[in-house]
Amino acid sequence: MERWAFSLVLCLSVAGFMASSHAGQSNGSFSFQDNFDIMWAQDHFKTSPDGQVWYLDLDKETGCGFQTRQRYRFGWFSMKLKLVGGDSAGVVTAYYMCSDTGPERDELDFEFLGNRTGQPYTIQTNVYKKGVGGREMRHILWFDPTEDFHTYAILWNNHQILFFVDRVPIRVYKNTDKPNDFFPNEKPMYMFSSIWNADDWATRGGLEKTDWKNAPFVSSYKDFNADGCQWVDPYPDCVSTTTQNWWDQYDAWVLSDDQKKDFAWVERNLVIYDYCKDNERYPKLPDECSISPWD
Ligand SMILES: *[C@@H]1O[C@H](CO)[C@@H](O)[C@H](O)[C@H]1NC(C)=O
Ligand SMILES: *[C@@H]1O[C@H](CO)[C@@H](O)[C@H](O)[C@H]1NC(C)=O
Repeated sequence: MERWAFSLVLCLSVAGFMASSHAGQSNGSFSFQDNFDIMWAQDHFKTSPDGQVWYLDLDKETGCGFQTRQRYRFGWFSMKLKLVGGDSAGVVTAYYMCSDTGPERDELDFEFLGNRTGQPYTIQTNVYKKGVGGREMRHILWFDPTEDFHTYAILWNNHQILFFVDRVPIRVYKNTDKPNDFFPNEKPMYMFSSIWNADDWATRGGLEKTDWKNAPFVSSYKDFNADGCQWVDPYPDCVSTTTQNWWDQYDAWVLSDDQKKDFAWVERNLVIYDYCKDNERYPKLPDECSISPWD
């Protein structure tokens, strides 16, 4: 059986980063040293000689993770990832946004679940509000994510959260006009990525174990971009619906016609699990499941 009741325990933020301020930089290209900190296992992090590509590796001792120094509330967040190739069963690369360490945290997750050589990667997404998740969807991809870099992005405003793979929205998560318990929109979030061993649940529900003979397992990153509202304490900005922010405009509240076509194709062909269709797990489906992604 699949085990769903896990959470990103790695959603750590290290005290002190909050104090740092690089206010003003909300677009353009982002260097690692100016924008990120390593969360743990510094020696499992490497960069290419020109600093453009970053590598996280996992071995039997430990994985590794990094996070942005800044928090953001709403915007567009993207990065190119190339995942662990070959036999990567049991290995999970997570790429996510998360508000803080507390039990009440909000979180938007992409998780890439490795597989045995030649077997397809699965991409799992999840949404947490106030510490409550359990909103997994799983998709297969239309390419091999270990062969090349592909863009994985999140668009987040007060109306919808879109999970993108190469500009194709694979998941649409909508808000309603009424206050609710499912749409994270209050807390600013950091962006994180990490690689870790999850062979107790990740691949075929934990049946396939990590084969440490193939370690280290390396995932690669480049072109991080955050076009969002940077949260600067003590001024909780990012609240107003300012007209300058494209991610807060009407066009970003709903899918465009092209996105609707792409999304319909994803729904027909790539979804392998949707918690909103899991009546066994949720005899009464969660409230958000009745909201149409199309409006
Ligand atoms: C962000 O965009 C503005 C306007 O296009 C530009 O003036 C500014 O230099 C950019 N910032 C970075 C960090 O690239
Ligand atoms: C791994 O491959 C198997 C066999 O093709 C498939 O059933 C499974 O969904 C794949 N992904 C994971 C994460 O187990």
